[in-house]
Amino acid sequence: MSTSIESVLHENRVFNPSPAFVAQANVSGMDAYQALCAEAAADYEGYWARLARENVVWKQPFSTVLDESGAPFYQWFSDGKLNASWNCLDKNIEAGLGDKVAIIFEADDGKVTRVTYSELLARVARFANALKGLGVKKGDRVIIYLPMSIEGVVAMQACARIGATHSVVFGGFSAQSLRDRIEDAGAVLIITADEQCRGGKNLPLKPAVDEALTLPGTGSIKNVVVYRRSGGPCNMVPGRDLWWHDVAANQSETCEPEWVEAEHPLFLLYTSGSTGKPKGVQHSTGGYLLHAILTTRWTFDLKPGDVFWCTADIGWVTGHTYVTYGPLACGGTEIVFEGVPTFPDAGRFWKMIQDHKVSIFYTAPTAIRALIKAADINPGTHPKHYDLSSLRVLGSVGEPINPEAWMWYHDNIGGGRCPIMDTFWQTETGGHVITPLPGATPLVPGSCTLAFPGIMAAVVDEAGHDVEWGKGGFLVIKRPWPSMIRTIWNDPDRFRKSYFPEDLGGKLYLAGDGAVRNAQSGYFTIMGRIDDVLSVSGHRLGTMEIESALVSHPLVAEAAVVGKPHDIKGEAIVAYVVLKTARPTGEEAKRIVNDLRNHVAHEIGPIAKPDEIRFGDNLPKTRSGKIMRRLLRTLAKGEEITSDISTLENPAILDQLKEVIK
Ligand code: WT7
Repeated sequence: MSTSIESVLHENRVFNPSPAFVAQANVSGMDAYQALCAEAAADYEGYWARLARENVVWKQPFSTVLDESGAPFYQWFSDGKLNASWNCLDKNIEAGLGDKVAIIFEADDGKVTRVTYSELLARVARFANALKGLGVKKGDRVIIYLPMSIEGVVAMQACARIGATHSVVFGGFSAQSLRDRIEDAGAVLIITADEQCRGGKNLPLKPAVDEALTLPGTGSIKNVVVYRRSGGPCNMVPGRDLWWHDVAANQSETCEPEWVEAEHPLFLLYTSGSTGKPKGVQHSTGGYLLHAILTTRWTFDLKPGDVFWCTADIGWVTGHTYVTYGPLACGGTEIVFEGVPTFPDAGRFWKMIQDHKVSIFYTAPTAIRALIKAADINPGTHPKHYDLSSLRVLGSVGEPINPEAWMWYHDNIGGGRCPIMDTFWQTETGGHVITPLPGATPLVPGSCTLAFPGIMAAVVDEAGHDVEWGKGGFLVIKRPWPSMIRTIWNDPDRFRKSYFPEDLGGKLYLAGDGAVRNAQSGYFTIMGRIDDVLSVSGHRLGTMEIESALVSHPLVAEAAVVGKPHDIKGEAIVAYVVLKTARPTGEEAKRIVNDLRNHVAHEIGPIAKPDEIRFGDNLPKTRSGKIMRRLLRTLAKGEEITSDISTLENPAILDQLKEVIK
């Protein structure tokens, strides 16, 4: 089902917004879109300042807009003060939304809990007071390792309320990954749960925290707060571990927010780059919140009557911006879902849309592709059996959506009437940077269309010069924007080198993706990462991270990891491994493959398990010793090598590396 870039570029189906949608849209018509772009082009700072004044409530108004004096460490609205949690909760309650449902939580087993804005504020305030009681203060880093839950949102909002910087670690990451993040962030406290409930099973969560805290580098942690989700067995270390319900009991339901500077780090979120170590992407409070609000209003056209559902986990940036902050800061009603799309069957998403009358639905192409396949296998789960008429806007995120999946989503989920927002962005961008707007942009399947108003996206060559439309190049953003990454925690040098490389002049933000603009329309199509970063089921993983995990196994001498196209996951992980002992065959090879996959799961998390492992006596290298990854990618696809291999030191290795251990 994967599609070549060629076919996307020659895609000529165009879907115009319906007049009825345009008439009611927050950004109504292409003229309105262009007027916003023109405003930004004419007075860049004035544009963002206007939006920041209109959309964010400031405790202390800002007078400086963009401060470029420390470039590329840009600052926005730096003398302004605000609180993100106040903007998500108190602001709405003051506006009369106290009794409005903020969160509709659906548990794995189908149990539904509704929380109003007033109740959510009370829960956030109590937990914020509890954190303060444990000595957590402004600027401290707090690790959140929780399943999808109301408590997950409460924990993040409570940190924001007291000015603590949260760093959410996805529940699928291992103890070792958790350790790395605890150490790098220098975190003082971890918020976790006894177990997580997914797909009808209770899976342990707390043991990973316990294991992480036995590892070196975690001495900064003073307490672990445990939310009792399942009531299953849970080891509690006296003096260190505390139950959420105990610390939150008897706390006041009011908590004066900590008014922080706009640049105060709201959160760190670790993500993969081209080297082994995940990087702590640091986001601001003011600029980030502004973009969360603007994109929720404009890209999703959120209105007071909407029910918004972003299926992403809070462990990823999508869950930060479009679960914890954007929809709440806009006073919306949102779904938080604990489970998985395939339990009790693959109709779960469609049933939930029907039951909760979801009007805006935002998910990943990998989920759509998996559900298409599931409906083929079990026609009972096909969306046609559900009433999806409440939907009005659809979204896609995390990886390119192939036109086949786009059309299926459009016809079968959107009933042919809902515009699809193919939103391109990254952990580093904080929110959408290239995306259609539903009441303005004509849609072309497979294209994320045009820059969000005010985002100066472009495609450039190796020297940083614009390439003409129709030619491929590096995707960049030419001017700093409010929700951009501020730095890499503990590694400002890596920030500068990764995102503002000197080759491009040091002033352009380098996204790390290749892109091309359609020769006629200027629409962007993303061509995939230009670095060694994979997107597996929409999860970002560095090949070097997986390689380091493999070589940390006592049997492994050397490893190289590449991606190969996969119908459902987008990319699959293929690992080429050289053992310290002889190249294994038969049953032994199978056993080692199994061991190595489990080892990677233990080092990083199950999401990083290689789909395939192949063994060689060596890896294909140039005479200077460089691994020829290009060849490994070709072999991974099962294709013959037709290119020049004259620089290859050891061509015989290639035959060994064709063999897939089944
Ligand atoms: C990378 C960022 C953005 C939140 C989830 C992923 C890829 C993301 C799209 C899209 C094509 C996309 C890019 C990007 N990507 N959205 N609509 N079309 N590619 O955030 O984990 O930081 O990954 O995901 O390669 O660089 P992330």
